[in-house]
Amino acid sequence: MKHIIAVNAGPRKGWNTDLLIKSASEGAQAAGAEVEQIDLYSLEKFTGCRSCFSCKREPNFGKCIVADGLKDVLLKIRNADGLIIGSPNYLSDLTAEFRAFFERLIFQSLTYNREEPCCNTHFIPVVLIMTSNAPEGSYTELMNRYKGMFERFVGPCSTLTAGNTLQVKDYSIYNWTIFDPEAKFRSREEDFPGKLAAAYELGKSMISE
Ligand SMILES: Cc1cc2nc3c(=O)[nH]c(=O)nc-3n(C[C@H](O)[C@H](O)[C@H](O)COP(=O)(O)O)c2cc1C
Repeated sequence: MKHIIAVNAGPRKGWNTDLLIKSASEGAQAAGAEVEQIDLYSLEKFTGCRSCFSCKREPNFGKCIVADGLKDVLLKIRNADGLIIGSPNYLSDLTAEFRAFFERLIFQSLTYNREEPCCNTHFIPVVLIMTSNAPEGSYTELMNRYKGMFERFVGPCSTLTAGNTLQVKDYSIYNWTIFDPEAKFRSREEDFPGKLAAAYELGKSMISE
């Protein structure tokens, strides 16, 4: 049975990003895989790359040795058959927790060697999900950049973005004049189900293809 790791790089369980990750996971499960979800915000403290360069030579070539909350996550991904990763957009990028995870995941496989720039030999499919207030298409360049990095160092990457998300249940208690709450709720009802379905299909296809 294929084993998929699903990483939630957003803090809010049960909200947009988490729901899309769970839908992708359900798709993978329907195709016969087992899925383990890891919530980065629930892990013990971790950091981004510490620039120790232990991953750049033996005996730990290609492996991050930092023993914090991410250690087991990186190990699990090394043995997994696929990775689902989701993050909300925070200040025009993915979350700080995503970035720390991403630095550690990618840098261990980046060799600084012209002849063999990547030492990862266990390529796995990746589904990258991002949610944002901004409408879809606002972060195409950002997503393409992450997709490119995943494809160079982890494996073939499909992306899914869900824009114009519902950010809170009650907009009336904030003085947020840039939003149209009615349009937000409408988008949640009319557009978000399609995104959940698309996530499901991506999760499914990462197993069956
Ligand atoms: C700290 C912070 C920064 C944000 N910055 C952006 C941003 O730059 N662009 C954007 O479109 N949405 C931004 N958002 C909105 C979230 O990306 C959006 O509400 C997302 O769907 C939240 O995901 P969640 O419901 O899974 O928590 C920000 C939200 C927070 C809390």
